[in-house]
Amino acid sequence: MRVRLYNLITRIFALLLLVVFVINFSAQEGEKLFKANCASCHNPVKNATGPKMQGVLQKWIDAGEEELIYKWVQNPSKLYNSGKSKMAKAIWDWSPTAMTPQGHLSREEVESIFTYVDNYAPPVAAVGGGLASGDSITTESDSSEYWWWIISFILVFVLFAILGVRRELSAAVAAKEGLLVDPTSTFVTSAQQWFLRNWFVTVLLVVGVALFAGVELFGRAYQLGVYEDYMPSQPVAYSHKLHAGKMGIECKYCHHSAEKSKHAGIPSVNVCMNCHAIVHEGPQYGTEEIDKLHKASGYNKNKQAYNIDEFGDRIEEPIVWNKAHNLPDHVYFSHAQHVHTNTGNIDCRQCHGPVQTYTLGRVSTIDEVNAYAATDDGMERGLIQLTKPLLTMGWCIECHNKKEIDLTSSGYYKEIHNRIKLRADINNKIFEDDKVTVKELGGWECAKCHY
Ligand code: HEC
Ligand code: HEC
Ligand code: HEC
Ligand code: HEC
Ligand code: HEC
Ligand code: HEC
Repeated sequence: MRVRLYNLITRIFALLLLVVFVINFSAQEGEKLFKANCASCHNPVKNATGPKMQGVLQKWIDAGEEELIYKWVQNPSKLYNSGKSKMAKAIWDWSPTAMTPQGHLSREEVESIFTYVDNYAPPVAAVGGGLASGDSITTESDSSEYWWWIISFILVFVLFAILGVRRELSAAVAAKEGLLVDPTSTFVTSAQQWFLRNWFVTVLLVVGVALFAGVELFGRAYQLGVYEDYMPSQPVAYSHKLHAGKMGIECKYCHHSAEKSKHAGIPSVNVCMNCHAIVHEGPQYGTEEIDKLHKASGYNKNKQAYNIDEFGDRIEEPIVWNKAHNLPDHVYFSHAQHVHTNTGNIDCRQCHGPVQTYTLGRVSTIDEVNAYAATDDGMERGLIQLTKPLLTMGWCIECHNKKEIDLTSSGYYKEIHNRIKLRADINNKIFEDDKVTVKELGGWECAKCHY
């Protein structure tokens, strides 16, 4: 009788263990999805471009709009325009900045995101510190994962303890009833027997652990060499959202070499000083951050003049920005070939995502790019949807096979484009799909991209 009871308890613990693995897995799923789709604008516990996410679900439930929050995430403006949601109206009135629709996510996926943010605990000691801590969400290590491991460990320990007690008990019962106790029975042999007797739980456990390990391994291997969603901290709290978004400054005003050369380039402080010789204060940091620009360019805002040394040269100390994008040295990539109107004529956002909504420069994710490509603005800019992570070889190749070339464009590629067009009449084999893509121009040849 008692043995049965213990048997039951061990079974319950084994199942609990499995449940812990499964929950742990879905919490990580939510974390991944949040980081890939929402973290560019939302922080779980701080207001950023969008409001903080923790407790938001409860807020909508309290307002009787639990179902509508999923509609919101799918397509905010549609929900707002339907007039069905008081919450949507309230947020819209608070800030009409459009949130990118997240229609590619299923309801379960959005649920897992809310589970993740609601369980999110900010790390005790902030990593890095400094100015980027308010913006950077990507460097925080997740403390909830740590707790799951401790709980799992305790459960395993309890399970073994119970097994031990149970063995002692059965030995005692056997002795009392005058049965022979097998002296060779060790913990291992009795564990073997237990697993054989409880084969169902054993199979569940093995499958659970194997699935967990497999998915985890696959996920990590897949991330090797992938730098999506990377945002290094920077010496000045520059914001694209403010300059390229709110003020609408053209990307090429600052990254002006993008059309003419290999590099898009980072603007020198002189470009900033075109405005910041006059603008001394910002909405979020006051004078603190702009003072750094003045220091770097040797500008004295009180005298409204640049500091000069005895030879009449400006006393400058250049700002050292950290690189977010970095292809390996064996790859050749040129901005001019892609953005100039006579060549690719591709919008920056096709490869860098909705930068006008970011603060600091960062490597976007393919999910963000695709979500943006589906918006009216994205479609107007002619963005296409791709599947491979940004900056991988698969990404370059996929686009070269998908992006159609505008054969009516003129310029130095006109010759080639015309020749290709002629060849299309003679040899349809290379135009299987009746499309002229970069591939037909030689965009799949190794030597075009590799030195
Ligand atoms: C491009 C920036 C951006 C992205 C990406 C984004 N959001 Fe938002 N989100 C906003 C902004 C801005 C608001 C504030 C409402 C507004 O002005 O439209 C908001 C509001 C919300 C709200 C309502 C908040 C409240 O206080 O009621 C929810 C819920 C939400 N977002 C969920 C998500 C989820 C989940 C994701 C990822 C799947 C996501 N958002 C991705 C910018 C974004
Ligand atoms: C007022 C000047 C300015 C404008 C306008 C501007 N940027 Fe930037 N951009 C910067 C500065 C400064 C940096 C370096 C600091 C950082 O990473 O945020 C930067 C960084 C970047 C990076 C990351 C570079 C790296 O380190 O790999 C990208 C990508 C980028 N910008 C794209 C854009 C796009 C796309 C637009 C238009 C939507 C744009 N920028 C508009 C000033 C500007
Ligand atoms: C076809 C894709 C593509 C397009 C379109 C594109 N970029 Fe880039 N961009 C890249 C890649 C790839 C890198 C990394 C280059 C490297 O590491 O050598 C990069 C790097 C950058 C950098 C970092 C500094 C540098 O020059 O390496 C900035 C800034 C930048 N891009 C801005 C822009 C702006 C602004 C536009 C639009 C005018 C634009 N990009 C259009 C793919 C693109
Ligand atoms: C075309 C004009 C213009 C250029 C060029 C420009 N800025 Fe600004 N910047 C502004 C204005 C205007 C503000 C203040 C906006 C406000 O108060 O709403 C501002 C604000 C700022 C702030 C303060 C932000 C805050 O929230 O407190 C920083 C930091 C900044 N700019 C950095 C830069 C850097 C770095 C560059 C060069 C890469 C640059 N700016 C180039 C116009 C410009
Ligand atoms: C969003 C689509 C897109 C992506 C992503 C992209 N390219 Fe391209 N690429 C183009 C287009 C379009 C052209 C052709 C421009 C033209 O000549 O009309 C091109 C042309 C080229 C060329 C010149 C090919 C020739 O025949 O001369 C090279 C080299 C190249 N790309 C390298 C790269 C590398 C390296 C990457 C990845 C880091 C990359 N591209 C990513 C669209 C893309
Ligand atoms: C359109 C541009 C492009 C073409 C064409 C291209 N590659 Fe790549 N290749 C890349 C980029 C970009 C990377 C760097 C990927 C990364 O860092 O993850 C790369 C990386 C590699 C690597 C290093 C392994 C890795 O994944 O980092 C090898 C090997 C390679 N390419 C071989 C080839 C061969 C062989 C061909 C011809 C069949 C070829 N590539 C054609 C862009 C290209």
